[in-house]
Amino acid sequence: MGSINPETAARYSGPAPSHDGGSTGALMDGIYRHQRHIYDATRKFYLLGRDHLIVRLDPPQGGSVLEIGCGTGRNMLAAGRRYPYARFCGIDISEAMLKTAATNIARAGEVGRIRIAAADAADFDTNTLFGVPAFDRVVFSYTLSMIPPWREALAVGLAHLKPGGRAHIVDFGQQERLPAAFRGLLFAWLKGFHVTPRADLREALEEAAGEEAEVSFAPLYRGYAWYGEVSSQSGER
Ligand SMILES: C[S@@+](CC[C@H](N)C(=O)[O-])C[C@H]1O[C@@H](n2cnc3c(N)ncnc32)[C@H](O)[C@@H]1O
Repeated sequence: MGSINPETAARYSGPAPSHDGGSTGALMDGIYRHQRHIYDATRKFYLLGRDHLIVRLDPPQGGSVLEIGCGTGRNMLAAGRRYPYARFCGIDISEAMLKTAATNIARAGEVGRIRIAAADAADFDTNTLFGVPAFDRVVFSYTLSMIPPWREALAVGLAHLKPGGRAHIVDFGQQERLPAAFRGLLFAWLKGFHVTPRADLREALEEAAGEEAEVSFAPLYRGYAWYGEVSSQSGER
C-alpha cells in the first residue's frame, strides 16, 4: 500500500498488519475498490441507525472518538459537524476505503481533527498509530458483521475505552419483526459482501463488558438494525 493523499495530514501508515497476513485487507479492497465511489450515496438507504448512533454519541467537551472500520469517514465527518469540540481517529483495514476517507476529510477541511490509519480491528494499538492510548467514545458501525474474528475486535475496541467512556455499536439485526422472505433475501444479498449479521451480538456485548461495564441494547426499525451501548465505569467510587 502506498500513501493515500499527500494533501492530507490524516495519518495513514501504510499496510495494516493484519491477523490473517493481509487477506482481509485484500478482500475488503476487492469489495470496495469500485464501491467506495458510490458508497455514501447508496449506503444511506440501508445502513440504518448510523445517525441514531451519532445523536447518542454525545462526547464530552474536548473528548475523543475512535471509529473502528471507519470506511469513507462518513460517520466521523457527520459526528464532527455535530460535535465541533471533539476529535476523531478512525482505523480501517481497506486501503481503498481509507483513500476515499482521506479525500473526504481533506475536502471538509478536517485534516488534523479527524485522523485515520490502516489497521486490523482485531489487533491494533492507537497509542502507536495516533499517540492516543484511550478514547471517550468507541464506535463500531456496520463493522462487526464484516469481521470474522469480531469478538476479538470487540474486546480490542473496549480495551481502548477510557474509564467512564462508552462504546456505541450499530449493525444489522435479525429482522425479527419483518417478513421472513425479506430476511432471507437480505441475508443472501449481504453474503455477497461477506456480511454476516451477528445473531448473538447482545450476548457478545454482555460477555465483553463483564462486570465492569453496563450494556444497553435495542432493536431499531423492527429489528432491521440492532443498537447497543457499553458504558464503562468511571473508576470513581
Ligand atoms: C460496511 S463498512 C462500514 C463503514 C462505516 N463504519 C460506516 O458505518 O459507514 C465496513 C468497514 O469495515 C472495514 N473492515 C472490515 N474488516 C475489517 C478489519 N478486520 N479491520 C478493520 N476494518 C475492517 C471495511 O474495510 C469497511 O470499510
